[in-house]
Amino acid sequence: MNQPAILVAPTADTAEAVVAEHCIAAIAAHPRIVLGLATGRTMVGVYDKIVAGCARASLSLAGVTTFNLDEYCGLPEGHPASFRAYMRRHLIDRTDIDPARSHVPIGIDGAGYERLIAMAGGIDLQLLGIGRNGHIGFNEPGSAITSRTRIVTLAPTTLEDNRDAFDGCAPREAMTMGIATILGAREIVLLATGPAKAEALADAFGGPVRAGNPASALQRHPRVTVVCDADAAARLDPALRQIAATP
Ligand code: F6R
Repeated sequence: MNQPAILVAPTADTAEAVVAEHCIAAIAAHPRIVLGLATGRTMVGVYDKIVAGCARASLSLAGVTTFNLDEYCGLPEGHPASFRAYMRRHLIDRTDIDPARSHVPIGIDGAGYERLIAMAGGIDLQLLGIGRNGHIGFNEPGSAITSRTRIVTLAPTTLEDNRDAFDGCAPREAMTMGIATILGAREIVLLATGPAKAEALADAFGGPVRAGNPASALQRHPRVTVVCDADAAARLDPALRQIAATP
């Protein structure tokens, strides 16, 4: 079991900056890096800061390959709440990243997505958010630690959290990388901000690995960094917290 470094930044903005700077440094060191990407409200500020930081440093993303964690099933191409549209809005259309190297798990079966990841050489750096029920990707509580990319049914709390984006008729299924797929990444950075994430975060890293909190599986990975703001850190055991060096 590994206890990940849990870096606490004073605000969501500084926590996002810590994650963005980590990604920018990784891209600068390895321009052909393979990134695993998350969507959601937490990541919007991270992508804003990656876009701004890369522009400032004249850093090209043309060699980068990306694999998104998940996508809703059944949404028409171009639906504004789809994760494809999210990635175009927040990253792809704002950088020189090659859309042909930016993958989202849709229009392909789970085994095919796993093959694409393997053919790219595996994921070097995986970004994660966390659901208030502890989900990572859309691996809801009960997901097996051995799970791979597949179609899942979304939990009621997830449907509730995402309802606003869909005018009341949110998709009930999604394709998601599995927990084993996520653990296959060489490095993982999880970002959690806001008080709604405090309980899931404390439970993921303050207790044993258990299917009831999918993020707890990250204790099985040797290279995980958790970055959070003070609100999300509120229920963490103080012994687990480290102060983030803010950029
Ligand atoms: C999204 C994803 C999810 C989100 C999580 C948190 O691609 O994989 O696990 O990271 O639901 O979402 P927000 O950031 O909206 O609270």
